[in-house]
Amino acid sequence: MKVLILYASITGNAKGMARILTQFFKHVGATVTTGTMQQTDAATLADYDAVILATYTWSGGTTPEEAEDFYADLTAVDLSARPVVFGVVGTGDPFYGDDYNTAPDLFTAALRASGAVRGAATVKIEQNATDADMPAFAQFTKSVMAKLQELHGQA
Ligand SMILES: Cc1cc2nc3c(=O)[nH]c(=O)nc-3n(C[C@H](O)[C@H](O)[C@H](O)COP(=O)(O)O)c2cc1C
Repeated sequence: MKVLILYASITGNAKGMARILTQFFKHVGATVTTGTMQQTDAATLADYDAVILATYTWSGGTTPEEAEDFYADLTAVDLSARPVVFGVVGTGDPFYGDDYNTAPDLFTAALRASGAVRGAATVKIEQNATDADMPAFAQFTKSVMAKLQELHGQA
């Protein structure tokens, strides 16, 4: 099972989430590729069984600026053929009120528009991941694997 984990991160919090999820997915036997959204061509997402995005939220509740092209291309790709299973995790700061951790929802809408199928509820954390977040990441991984099993009969 091929899983692609992509992140956008300035100070390392989303990168940390990607690193943790890389370990979780490897632990359940997946072949994991980890990279940045910025350096990834959205068209390649169709080559994977599952795609996981880890993002922070930027000013005004927006998606990361450096991932602008990737985000724009997401809606143009077709991930409906197999279909690709996706999950999104996010880090933000409650200081931003209504704009708290909204980027994951924008990525989710784009992935849905591309025909991908959501495999797990979005995990949103404040700033850096801590030990207290691990059960949520474990559940997230389990849920994505279950969706893959349901759709493709593989685990
Ligand atoms: C200029 C600036 C604007 C931000 N705007 C938001 C925001 O609108 N919503 C939010 O939830 N977090 C916002 N944040 C907080 C970051 O998303 C948060 O610190 C996150 O953990 C950073 O992730 P990273 O370490 O992967 O870069 C903002 C941070 C900065 C510096």
